[in-house]
Amino acid sequence: MATPSLEEKRAWAEQFFEKTGASYDQVVDQTTFRIDRLWKKKILSKIPPSSQKILDLACGTGILTFAIAKKFPNARIVGVDLTKGYLDIARKKAEANRIDRVTFVHSPAEDFLSDDRFDACVTSYLPKYADLDRLIPNLSQTLAPGGVLIFHDFTYPTNRFLQWTFEAYFKLLPPIGGWRWPEWKETLYELPVVIRKTRWIEELTAAMQREGFKEIRVESLTMQGSALVTGRKREWRPIRDKPSPSKCRDK
Ligand SMILES: C[S@@+](CC[C@H](N)C(=O)[O-])C[C@H]1O[C@@H](n2cnc3c(N)ncnc32)[C@H](O)[C@@H]1O
Repeated sequence: MATPSLEEKRAWAEQFFEKTGASYDQVVDQTTFRIDRLWKKKILSKIPPSSQKILDLACGTGILTFAIAKKFPNARIVGVDLTKGYLDIARKKAEANRIDRVTFVHSPAEDFLSDDRFDACVTSYLPKYADLDRLIPNLSQTLAPGGVLIFHDFTYPTNRFLQWTFEAYFKLLPPIGGWRWPEWKETLYELPVVIRKTRWIEELTAAMQREGFKEIRVESLTMQGSALVTGRKREWRPIRDKPSPSKCRDK
């Protein structure tokens, strides 16, 4: 199967998220039977406890961003997203809950650069839409030495029985979900196509290796329904003084 082009990925993202912000939190919770909450907990558990600056890419309406803010009461958090409608909802939540340690930035994740150096960068449901060859080198500059990268997204199962379960689930979900949330109908039909087609784990791990990330790990979650890829940016190494040439070789 051909790898989707950047234009294809961007078109999916724009088409999927244009009109769906208002019902997003409810849809993600109910269509995953709340398994999304477990996945978010797993992401949180991978963030180093000492983190002071945390970046949430494709933060959407801020579900993960605010969970991070709750678990890390002294950290500053930046959420970045492509879709203004989603960010507007996230900003309203921050205002309503008087959370001022969180900043939201309207930008494609691939173009986000900052003078800050982040201790952790997390993302949930971005990798299948992202240009990872462009994103990872940029992120590598944005992360502090030793900073961790935690990427999460859906996966198409490799196990035959789980593939059958995936196909059965996505036969039922679009008509039922599309009836319940009409603005999601098209997205729910297209989502399994994107998940079958994406090669995000291979693309991401290759890009991380090229950038010199260490401790790259892939963890499959809940019946191969999604996966978590983690890695650590290498630490600075002090440049050692050049050994001075021996002066006493020739007498
Ligand atoms: C399914 S939502 C996930 C939101 C949030 N991470 C969560 O887990 O609830 C996917 C989000 O990815 C954003 N997105 C897709 N492609 C993007 C890109 N290239 N750069 C930034 N955001 C992107 C969409 O705007 C949308 O808000």
